[in-house]
Amino acid sequence: MNSLYMKNFKERVIIALDYDNLDSVRNILERLKGEAYFYKIGSALFTSCGIQSVKLVRDYGCRIFLDLKFHDIPNTVYNAVKSAGELGADIINIHASGGVDMMKSAKKGAIEAAKKTGKNIDVIAVTILTSLAQEDLRDIFYYSGHGVNSENLKSGNEGNVSNLVLHLAELAKISGLDGVVCSGYESIEIKKVLGDNFKTIVPGIRLKTGKIDDQKRIMTPSAAFNSGADYIVIGREITGADSPADALQNIYSDIEKNALTLK
Ligand code: C5P
Repeated sequence: MNSLYMKNFKERVIIALDYDNLDSVRNILERLKGEAYFYKIGSALFTSCGIQSVKLVRDYGCRIFLDLKFHDIPNTVYNAVKSAGELGADIINIHASGGVDMMKSAKKGAIEAAKKTGKNIDVIAVTILTSLAQEDLRDIFYYSGHGVNSENLKSGNEGNVSNLVLHLAELAKISGLDGVVCSGYESIEIKKVLGDNFKTIVPGIRLKTGKIDDQKRIMTPSAAFNSGADYIVIGREITGADSPADALQNIYSDIEKNALTLK
């Protein structure tokens, strides 16, 4: 493994702060101080504690993935992304299904915010939520034969979910976005088709593939990096551990020992 990558890999591990109060956030930031560099704030924490949660993570000198999955008309998303960027988010995500104009507006908002903050802000697309299966897509988009790709969705062909993921990822790239959130399995294909510069952020990470909680398509940290992930997102494996610091070290050890990918 190349030494530049080794030096930086800890900055590519994003810890999900799935809490509803600032005390729990402060507690985990304190326990992982000096060892963790990137945190994810999702809609549950943000709607409970608001911008204080972002400020708290920034006070610890760490970077922020603001996972609010915007999906609205282009002008509203432009303003939301610009505000999120000005607040200090380093990564912001939106739904690719909001369309090309919405995604372009999101990127424009991030560029505007970056002019103020002086740092790069990545805008990342969510393609198909991993909680949705083929039959859910059929229920959402198929209506009396007039739905999107209705014949294929009716057929129950599992391959269509990954085709749709790839299609939405392509739209995100065309719109000027920086990458997508996806499973490690999808990351391999997305990198192959859309190139290595198009980033993949991979959740669903577990050290042992036996323990799965509600995640369906899981990978070990090193396997996710070997599938080309630029970042991995880990929540309960760390935040639910008796010793979050030890859990994080175990994750780092797996990456150091088994990740082969050179970045
Ligand atoms: O606890 P766990 O490691 O499963 O947490 C994963 C985090 O990544 C959660 O915050 C979850 O909302 C998020 N996420 C995910 N799958 C996606 C997108 C986001 O698990 N497809």
